[in-house]
Amino acid sequence: VAVNEAQTKHLFDNRYGTGQSTVDGILRATNILLAGRRCVVAGYGWVGRGIANRFAGMGARVTIVEVDPVRAIEALMDGHQVMTAGDAARWGEVFVTATGNVNVFREEHFRVMPDGAVLANSGHFDAELDLAALTRLAEGHIREVRNDVREYDLGEKRLYLLAEGRLVNLGAAEGHPAAVMDMSFAGQALSVEYVAANHAALAKAVHVVPADIDAEIARLKLEARGITLEPMTEEQLRYTSSWQQGT
Ligand SMILES: NC(=O)c1ccc[n+]([C@@H]2O[C@H](COP(=O)([O-])OP(=O)(O)OC[C@H]3O[C@@H](n4cnc5c(N)ncnc54)[C@H](O)[C@@H]3O)[C@@H](O)[C@H]2O)c1
Repeated sequence: VAVNEAQTKHLFDNRYGTGQSTVDGILRATNILLAGRRCVVAGYGWVGRGIANRFAGMGARVTIVEVDPVRAIEALMDGHQVMTAGDAARWGEVFVTATGNVNVFREEHFRVMPDGAVLANSGHFDAELDLAALTRLAEGHIREVRNDVREYDLGEKRLYLLAEGRLVNLGAAEGHPAAVMDMSFAGQALSVEYVAANHAALAKAVHVVPADIDAEIARLKLEARGITLEPMTEEQLRYTSSWQQGT
């Protein structure tokens, strides 16, 4: 069962969990002031949205780098700037990758980034920043300046890599709060229960998480927070279950 695709996973764990813990990791490592800072987020998926919107909430100026036009227009309408990686590299002071892709920022970008730029990844392993190129450009002038902060002296400027380019929220902070991981783990547990109960009828394939599991996790989470949902009236149930009314 593709638990990673469950709504109660990516809508919450990726967006709010990674969003918060990524900012937490960057701040623990550097103690920089985000207000007024030029922050670039590559990727405006669930993780990128979470990071970008938390940056903006803390007063940073945010630019998004995207390859998908729908995600890019969403970023624009959420109030962020959208640029190519090359333009963003010249503009930004803090760079975070969250694309699931490789070498999003690479030699051509490192060459034009400003002195003191901070580089972090919260996406795919340590693959999103071209670390081989960064090491080559520094020609051995590399040193640890703080916990989880590595300085690459390129001669004309210094760049600062956080948590070795690995997931900064895990390397430099504590990962997601339990209050969002509970939903992800609930999805895994209820999906295992679903397979155990239904395996005889299930084809050998990757299955989507049944919608009622997502709904049950959300209901339990609301219940745990003491929140009660408004039920539909009989009239509303009839109205919304047929196209013959109100059309
Ligand atoms: N740090 C963590 O704890 C944590 C938690 C959850 C997910 N992740 C990882 O974060 C990454 C993103 O996850 P997601 O749920 O946001 O995925 P997603 O598919 O919703 O979003 C990824 C976005 O990146 C964009 N993209 C792809 N290549 C790009 C490029 N070269 N330049 C700019 N944008 C590009 C895509 O168009 C897409 O909008 C994945 O690698 C995932 O495994 C990390």
